[in-house]
Amino acid sequence: MDIAVIGSNMVDLITYVSRMPEQGETLEAPDFRLGCGGKGANQAIAASRLGSKVVMVSRVGNDAFADNTLTNFRDNGIDTTHVLRTAASSGVAPIFVDPQSRNSILIIKGANSLLSPEDIDNAADDIKSCQLIVLQLEVPLETVYHAVDFGRQHGIPVLLNPAPADPSLDYDKIASIDYFVPNESELALLTGNPVDTIDQVKTSAQELVDKGMRNVIVTLGHRGVLWVSAAGSEFIPAQSVKAVDTTGAGDAFIGAFSHSLVRGLPVADALRMANAYAADSVTKQGTQSSYATAEEFAAISSQMGHETPSV
Ligand code: ATP
Ligand code: RIB
Repeated sequence: MDIAVIGSNMVDLITYVSRMPEQGETLEAPDFRLGCGGKGANQAIAASRLGSKVVMVSRVGNDAFADNTLTNFRDNGIDTTHVLRTAASSGVAPIFVDPQSRNSILIIKGANSLLSPEDIDNAADDIKSCQLIVLQLEVPLETVYHAVDFGRQHGIPVLLNPAPADPSLDYDKIASIDYFVPNESELALLTGNPVDTIDQVKTSAQELVDKGMRNVIVTLGHRGVLWVSAAGSEFIPAQSVKAVDTTGAGDAFIGAFSHSLVRGLPVADALRMANAYAADSVTKQGTQSSYATAEEFAAISSQMGHETPSV
């Protein structure tokens, strides 16, 4: 195995709206799409579509959504040995996308809120065979902390995407993380600092590096990404594309970055590749439905003349 994703899966109920309804109003929306989502699953699918061998540690409910999620993981080549059926409803995410391609997301965690430290221990042999552990915050924090400790004990690098933002995240328990990948609002919440300018983002990220994090990688939407480490900082501007639906862009970015890392690319090259992969994803509707396979991404990169590091 290459990558262990220890995290969530959801069913995305994506409604494309002309505007949000007022309280008490019924409003027709132009379009709807049902898809597989959840930050953990999205990141796993992106990495797997690019060619990484991914094992998922996750929980689904005991409903029809669960069958669909398991089938989707398998169809995308993901090892589901540690995706556990649970006496709960599956995670669900009603998502609203406006004409400017901005999204608003509700999450109902369901079975995801039952993913436990013991689930990690039960998957220990498979996780130990991986070169990277990837985490998000749609499962209990105690499970996330246990995964961080597991990585440290077994010498496996850990990437944490602190999304959705959680004010109770205990910095001391994640201070040793190898790759910390927030977006700008998650960074603001964790540090309490303003992040209105790139310089402010850099100052906040530097603060985390000074406290012990190895690499802080801040995704900045249509602006691109900022990487800060003890060696310095680098800003990589986003690719210029026409955005249709940015839902799951951060997950596309993390899946592609993780894949590039385990394939041995240096961090700067892995970031360029992830930046291009995520930009392509925002040109298409949906979350996982917008993630290219390795072949599709190679074709898109050559059509657009991107100088994207290949993996
Ligand atoms: P989400 O929660 O919707 O998944 P996020 O807030 O976690 O997104 P963003 O910072 O919005 O993540 O985007 C992640 C990456 O996707 C960016 O760093 C960039 O590489 C790419 N990206 C996002 N939006 C655009 C855009 N409009 N044009 C080009 N690239 C984009
Ligand atoms: O990051 C996008 C994801 O957030 C969606 O797929 C939704 O399920 C929520 O988890």
